[in-house]
Amino acid sequence: MERKHQSILITGGAGFIGSHLTRLFVNKYPDTQIVNLDKLTYAGNLKNLKDIDQRPNYHFEKGDICDGELLKKLFAKYKFDGVLHCAAESHVDRSISDPLAFVKTNVLGTATLLNAAKENWQNNFEGKLFYHISTDEVYGSLGNTGYFTENTPYDPRSPYSASKASSDHFVRAYHHTYGLPTIISNCSNNYGPYHFPEKLIPLCINNIIHNKPLPIYGEGLNIRDWLFVEDHVKAIDLIFHNGKTGETYNIGGHNEWKNIDIIRELCKQMDKKLGRHPGTSEKLITYVKDRAGHDLRYAIDATKLSKELGWKPSVQFEEGLAKTIDWYLNNEEWLENVTSGAYMKYYEEMYGGDYV
Ligand code: NAD
Ligand code: TYD
Repeated sequence: MERKHQSILITGGAGFIGSHLTRLFVNKYPDTQIVNLDKLTYAGNLKNLKDIDQRPNYHFEKGDICDGELLKKLFAKYKFDGVLHCAAESHVDRSISDPLAFVKTNVLGTATLLNAAKENWQNNFEGKLFYHISTDEVYGSLGNTGYFTENTPYDPRSPYSASKASSDHFVRAYHHTYGLPTIISNCSNNYGPYHFPEKLIPLCINNIIHNKPLPIYGEGLNIRDWLFVEDHVKAIDLIFHNGKTGETYNIGGHNEWKNIDIIRELCKQMDKKLGRHPGTSEKLITYVKDRAGHDLRYAIDATKLSKELGWKPSVQFEEGLAKTIDWYLNNEEWLENVTSGAYMKYYEEMYGGDYV
């Protein structure tokens, strides 16, 4: 039977996936209060939500998931009966240069949030749900064949994936030890509008627009399984309302691409859209030093989700890429803002305090 919620806490709602998730829930569930708790790190941008931030069922709270006292106040104020935990440090390269920031937010932050849910729900878990949004990277790296299923043993290999794996373990531990109703989903690489231009696809779109080099790590042969972000948040919605508590669901696009092939496709589509001669943008491709410990291949088997809940991705990759490129071309101000750091200055003026 479909679960119903009165008041949902979304963490990290100002980020890439979080903003799509918040938009979907605010629009689709007008009678449910949706509270976005976000620290507004470099990756959090309130402009991502400007089309819905005046809705009566949307509320923003600026704060850190590591702050247990704040969480206690928010649980008391809004009486959450659901949590969608999206907040995280999310970029592998940053985790290599600053691993402890990932331990803090992803491990300690998740444990603090779990504890707040357990304490505030006071062991009366009827009608409650703690949903944890995780990644396929916890399963490690595949060779040229095979897929990650929900039963694949964890084998994280970067500080990012190790911190996400650890957070997944804490979620399961709270379920098994205290009976907290939890669900975890592990998704493959997302792409789409509002993606911060440090990740491969938005970085290359931005660099193609500005005729800057396109840095390909190693030989560009690493493979990722790409899913349009709106398909991911639709899957979360479906699982949040219909999935079984205590379970894990893999979400993926069945859409594997080598990095170099994605960049070539981006170059091809963008040359056309920008009125450049075919082959112009490909000249920007620059092979650079490989990422340390670079995982070769990720690929998700999402059979459980499709069999149990009838989910399948709706957006085909070339079409999703075209939509994404169009969004960036039509939102150059957003891009300029996040790359110039102007929005961080605005946050400092508006909220004060320290920002990454
Ligand atoms: P993102 O980096 O774009 O956004 C993260 C958000 O969390 C930002 O708004 C940031 O301000 C906020 N945040 C960071 N630390 C915080 C803290 N301590 N307290 C409160 N808020 C904090 O991330 P994303 O790419 O949207 O990823 C969202 C979630 O989905 C993450 O948990 C990530 O592991 C997972 N995921 C991402 C992908 C992907 O391809 N991007 C794929 C699978 C799973
Ligand atoms: P990324 O978007 O950082 O996601 P993840 O590492 O979580 O999969 O990177 C996607 C792939 O693209 C990954 O194999 C690393 C590679 N990559 C580059 O080749 N160049 C870049 O500038 C970036 C950011 C990533």
